[in-house]
Amino acid sequence: MSVARIGIVGGGLMGRELAAAIGRWAALEDHPVQPRLEAVCDTSPEALAWFERIPTVRLLTADRRALLEDSDLDVLYLAVPHHLHEELYLEAIAAGKDFLGEKPFGIDLGAARRIVAALGASDVFARCSSEMPYFPGAQLAYETIRSGALGQVIEVEHSFLHSSDLDRGKPINWKRQARYCGQLGVMADLGMHVLHLPLRLGWRPRRVYAVLQDIVQERPGPDGSPVRCDTWDNATLHADAGFPLALATKRIAPGETNTWRLRALGMDGGVEFSTANPKAVHRFALRDGRQVWERLETGSQSAFATVTRPIFEFGFSDAILQMWAAYLAEREGALGDRLGCVTPAEALAAHEVLAAAQVSGASGASEPVTGT
Ligand SMILES: NC(=O)c1ccc[n+]([C@@H]2O[C@H](COP(=O)([O-])OP(=O)(O)OC[C@H]3O[C@@H](n4cnc5c(N)ncnc54)[C@H](O)[C@@H]3O)[C@@H](O)[C@H]2O)c1
Repeated sequence: MSVARIGIVGGGLMGRELAAAIGRWAALEDHPVQPRLEAVCDTSPEALAWFERIPTVRLLTADRRALLEDSDLDVLYLAVPHHLHEELYLEAIAAGKDFLGEKPFGIDLGAARRIVAALGASDVFARCSSEMPYFPGAQLAYETIRSGALGQVIEVEHSFLHSSDLDRGKPINWKRQARYCGQLGVMADLGMHVLHLPLRLGWRPRRVYAVLQDIVQERPGPDGSPVRCDTWDNATLHADAGFPLALATKRIAPGETNTWRLRALGMDGGVEFSTANPKAVHRFALRDGRQVWERLETGSQSAFATVTRPIFEFGFSDAILQMWAAYLAEREGALGDRLGCVTPAEALAAHEVLAAAQVSGASGASEPVTGT
C-alpha cells in the first residue's frame, strides 16, 4: 500500500470533511492507498485551529506557498471560494502538484478554459469533486443506464435541491455574492452535481433554455443591515441532449435538504433514485405486457467495499469517503471499472452548459452550448 501525503488549501466546510473522511479510511477494505493529512492552509486562524485535533498534521499556515513548495506533499485538496480557483489551481499546476479541485473548477467558463489548458500542458493529475454519485442507489442507477437496459432514451430529469435559503434571515456569505461565487450563482454551486453523470454517460447538451430566479435579493450582513444578495437562487435548465434533459439546481426548494435526484426513462427500461429516499432505487420494465416499477433496496456498499455491513445505511460523509477513494485509486492506476471523479474535460464541458444557461437566462431564448 502506498501513502499519499495530503495538504488542504481551504480548511472550511469541505476541508474538514476530507479530514474526517481520512479519519475513517480504515473502513475501506483493500484500498491501495493510505492518505495522511499533513498540512493545512487557511487565511482564517479559527479555521486553522480546528485542524489541531488531527495528530498527523505537521503544518498549519496562512501562506499557501508553504504547501505548494513542500516536496513532502503528494496531493492537494483545493477547497476555497470560487473567485480563488483559477489563481490557486494554476499555481498548483505550475508547482507540479496533483490535486482534487472543488467545483465549479474556475469561477466561469474563461477560468475553466485556462485551468484545463494548463493541465493539458502538464503531468498533473487533477480531478474535480462530485460525491453524490457515490451513493449506492446512484451507483445502481448509473450502472443500470450504462448497461443499456433503458434502450432508446426518452427523457431524463436530474436535480440537486437545497432549501436552507428559504430562511430570509440567513446571513449573507460568499456563496451568495456574485463577486466571490460567480455570475452563475447556484449553478456554480450545484451545477457540477447534475452534470457529472450525464457527461460521463455521453449526454452532452447541444442547446439549453434556462429559467433563472433571484428570489431573495438581500440578506443580513455582519452587522445585521441588508446586503445585496446578487446570485441566482434557482436555475431550471431544459437541455437538448438528443432527448429532453431537464437539469435543476435550487437553493430554494421547499422540503428538500441536499436532495440529489435522477430519473431516466427509455423505451426498454427506466430508473429513478433520490437521496431523499436513500435506501431505494426504482426500476421500470415492461414484463408480460405490463408496466412494472420495482423497488430495489440498497445497502451501505458503494464503489469501494467497506467494513460497514451491507444491511446498514449510507450517508453524505460516506459519499465523501468514496469520492476520495476514487480519486486516490485513479491516481494510483487502480480505479478499474469504477466511476471516477469529474475529469478536467468534463468540468470544462459542464461550464460550457452552464455558460449557455447563463446567456439563455438573459436572452429568454434557447442558446447553443459551445464545444458541441
Ligand atoms: N462537493 C460538495 O458537496 C461541496 C459542498 C460545499 C462546497 N463545495 C465547494 O468547496 C469549495 C469551498 O467551499 P466551502 O463550503 O468549504 O467554503 P467555506 O467558506 O466553508 O471554506 C472556505 C475556506 O477557504 C478559506 N480561504 C479563503 N481564502 C483563502 C486563501 N486565500 N487561502 C487559504 N484559505 C482561504 C476560508 O477562510 C474558509 O475557511 C467551493 O468551491 C465550493 O463550491 C463543495
